[in-house]
Amino acid sequence: MKKDEIVLKRPVSAMKESALAYRKAHFESGEKTIYGSELFDQIESYDEWLKAVTRNTKPETVDPNWVVTDTFFAVRPGDQEIVGIIDLRHSLNGFLKDLGHCGYSVRPSERRKGYGTQMLRQLLDVAKEAGLQKLQLSVERDNTASVRVIQNNGGVYERSFSFEGKEADVYGFLLK
Ligand SMILES: CC(C)(COP(=O)(O)OP(=O)(O)OC[C@H]1O[C@@H](n2cnc3c(N)ncnc32)[C@H](O)[C@@H]1OP(=O)(O)O)[C@@H](O)C(=O)NCCC(=O)NCCS
Repeated sequence: MKKDEIVLKRPVSAMKESALAYRKAHFESGEKTIYGSELFDQIESYDEWLKAVTRNTKPETVDPNWVVTDTFFAVRPGDQEIVGIIDLRHSLNGFLKDLGHCGYSVRPSERRKGYGTQMLRQLLDVAKEAGLQKLQLSVERDNTASVRVIQNNGGVYERSFSFEGKEADVYGFLLK
């Protein structure tokens, strides 16, 4: 790993305060949805959210309405600041068929520093280690920053679909 690379860390109890501050930073910038956060934007209690994301990492305990999912905070080594969040859904159900295996967000004040690109690059390694042969990712076409993150990591355009009235594109990453 290169020096100054962010590190993907699974959420734990000790991260509670920094995680809540991270969420607040999104809300204070007017973002109600935190992509890739596995409902951290909707479940008020950190402890409840932590229990849910931890259960969802294992086939034996995953919510029957969801798929096995790993969730990571992107942590900057220098100051341990959470700079982003990203998830990996190990399979696609009917709901995820278009939405794909992964979502991500970077803290609003930390954007355009290369963290989004680094996070996806590292997640592709995690997906490979988890045995996925291909990762599918969807993005609204006008989300230039996210399209660039995908392109920086070698995503290949596959198809388009409409989501909530917007055009979105599906990209694939071969992991073999
Ligand atoms: C998408 C997102 C994760 C990108 O994170 P980031 O840390 O800023 O990404 P990077 O710094 O790696 O930037 C990637 C590229 O996008 C460009 N970029 C970043 N923000 C941009 C913007 N607002 N407009 C145009 N280009 C932008 C960067 O300059 C960089 O370009 P380059 O590869 O040509 O150098 C971040 O903007 C975000 O959290 N957005 C809200 C959530 C979201 O949209 N998630 C994705 C859902 S699919």
